[in-house]
Amino acid sequence: MERKSITLDKIQKNTATMFQNWMLLTAGENAPGKFNAMTIGWGFLGFAWGKPIAVTLVRHHRYTFEFMERAEDFTICSFPPQYRDALNLLGTKSGRDGDKVAASGLTPVASKIVRAPAYAEADLVLECKKAHFYDMREQDVAAKWVLDVYPGRDFHKMYFGEIVHVEEA
Ligand SMILES: Cc1cc2nc3c(=O)[nH]c(=O)nc-3n(C[C@H](O)[C@H](O)[C@H](O)COP(=O)(O)O)c2cc1C
Repeated sequence: MERKSITLDKIQKNTATMFQNWMLLTAGENAPGKFNAMTIGWGFLGFAWGKPIAVTLVRHHRYTFEFMERAEDFTICSFPPQYRDALNLLGTKSGRDGDKVAASGLTPVASKIVRAPAYAEADLVLECKKAHFYDMREQDVAAKWVLDVYPGRDFHKMYFGEIVHVEEA
């Protein structure tokens, strides 16, 4: 898909709803077996520390978590509706159990700035460099939210990434 390089404020897609419509988080090197990707439904875009920032929430037991910990950067991509099945697969299978990116039919391509790949089929690519990250702690979560969202105490790690490049179709 042909994409243009733009600044964050020029994104056409609805940034308030795009995570709910599913996106793909990818971390690692752009070589077979050297990166992993998973579907994400929670996240934010905004500004902090004078920079455009993307935030993603990753549970520790995801295989992608291991790549997020080792890498200095990541990409967040969205796709046209016809790739819903691919995103469903990437959000229900683990990269620990096989090459699910190959199985999804998506085509990894080199990003412009970061080491993590983007995808030929993506209609929006956010290239991010890890800036600030922390583990959510039970004492910092309202009791009701612990009960409702984290009954298994499997708190997320939050990654704030500086958005260093944006492309949109
Ligand atoms: C629609 C959807 C949204 C998801 N959002 C998140 C998320 O924001 N954070 C997270 O840790 N897991 C999320 N998941 C779960 C992971 O995508 C899923 O566990 C995946 O299989 C992990 O793959 P991995 O083990 O290869 O990293 C989501 C799954 C789906 C289907």
